[in-house]
Amino acid sequence: MHLLIIGSGYVGLVTGACFAEMGHHVTCLDIDAAKINNLKLGVLPIFEPSLDELIKRNLKARRLHFTTDYPSAVRQAEVCFIAVPTPATENGACDLSCVFAASAEIAKHMPSYRIIVNKSTVPVGTAEAVKKHMQQFTSIPFDVVSNPEFLKEGSAISDCMKPDRIILGVDSPTAAQKMKDLYASFNLNHDRLLLMDIRSAEMTKYAANAMLATRISFMNELAGLCENLSANINDVRIGIGSDSRIGYQFLYPGVGYGGSCFPKDLKALQAMAREACYETPLINAVEAINERQKKLLAAKITRYFGAVSGKTIAIWGLSFKPDTDDIREAPSLELIKELLAAGAALRLYDPVSMQNAKKLLGEHPNLHFCTDEYDAAAGAHAIALVTEWKQFRFVDCKALIEKMQGKGFFDGRNQYKHQEMCEQGFDYFGIGVPSRTKH
Ligand SMILES: NC(=O)c1ccc[n+]([C@@H]2O[C@H](COP(=O)([O-])OP(=O)(O)OC[C@H]3O[C@@H](n4cnc5c(N)ncnc54)[C@H](O)[C@@H]3O)[C@@H](O)[C@H]2O)c1
Repeated sequence: MHLLIIGSGYVGLVTGACFAEMGHHVTCLDIDAAKINNLKLGVLPIFEPSLDELIKRNLKARRLHFTTDYPSAVRQAEVCFIAVPTPATENGACDLSCVFAASAEIAKHMPSYRIIVNKSTVPVGTAEAVKKHMQQFTSIPFDVVSNPEFLKEGSAISDCMKPDRIILGVDSPTAAQKMKDLYASFNLNHDRLLLMDIRSAEMTKYAANAMLATRISFMNELAGLCENLSANINDVRIGIGSDSRIGYQFLYPGVGYGGSCFPKDLKALQAMAREACYETPLINAVEAINERQKKLLAAKITRYFGAVSGKTIAIWGLSFKPDTDDIREAPSLELIKELLAAGAALRLYDPVSMQNAKKLLGEHPNLHFCTDEYDAAAGAHAIALVTEWKQFRFVDCKALIEKMQGKGFFDGRNQYKHQEMCEQGFDYFGIGVPSRTKH
């Protein structure tokens, strides 16, 4: 099939590359000409494990193309996917301007029936709004399908190639059949397609993210309680995760959730509820707990030193989670903001997101971008681990302590054992782990 993917970011590129790998002819389109020019040369705008090989292979096989040209791209494609940003507006509602802009371009240039598949995360009712919007520009028939995306940055290729489920919100038999055919090769092992009405499909994406965020905030709230009651959240986590009704996934306390999805999707859900005049106390609490949690590490560090002015803190990990260069809404940014404002000098290191961080944070006399985790620790009074990259798991503690001026270790992801870190000479603080260090 000839496919068009509009938006060549995390979702668009991964989707396009995976469809091409399955033998489809895919054109990825973006309004960012520099991005497209680089992609034509095989230079990727993002870091995502294995995406580079997949794109290069399919470029070479001429199954994957990149363009900024809507008219020719829409003409060739039977199915047009929309994978553009849907950020939060100032009041938290979902900004659909990119979705409307993309769908208008499809409407203006489609020569005959097309299926428009929305992969962007959009509020309930958006497909209907897109349909109306497109009808202003065309009288040619078309169908709009909701196909929310569930890939996780860091494991996006395998998520896309072997999805847990493929949600399809469809209201036309023609579109339903075409989508089944399109996804047939992803479905060989077992049927992963879940067909439903469009509004339910749109809601499913928000429901999934809200559920996951709820588990995180629940664990973070319990972690705080554990610290106050001298219980250990690490043991509690295993204790409850072993119940098959609960399971172990997404039960990790930490420095709060971030990224380009959970924060904005929770806000959009709240905005939808406001519009429907329906109260959502649970979702509101999930968000409030997360806001508090993002400030926790800075508060712990400040409490340890009394004041952080004049102290040097190494920050390990800047991306919102490991295996991605994405720093959108990353908890590291809140920590950096708070510590800088309090007068600390910061030594930052992340295995892949240094470029993004430099671009976002700019130059500041108290910000130092370092070459690795040991370089970041040089002269530091304390280390704060924010993102649990694998390379931070096994470090030479002796070498670290020798390089440091102080011995504080703030483990925002509970990657280390309290006792062992204390034995190595650190004053160790985890999340929801009772402190044995006197200060
Ligand atoms: N990133 C994720 O992990 C993830 C997972 C599931 C769902 N989503 C959803 O998918 C959507 C896209 O997210 P993303 O992370 O891929 O975004 P992104 O910012 O990485 O990429 C979006 C791309 O769309 C381009 N674009 C914007 N307007 C355009 C237009 N009118 N025409 C063509 N291109 C345009 C931008 O230049 C950018 O390259 C969002 O709705 C997001 O919530 C993201």
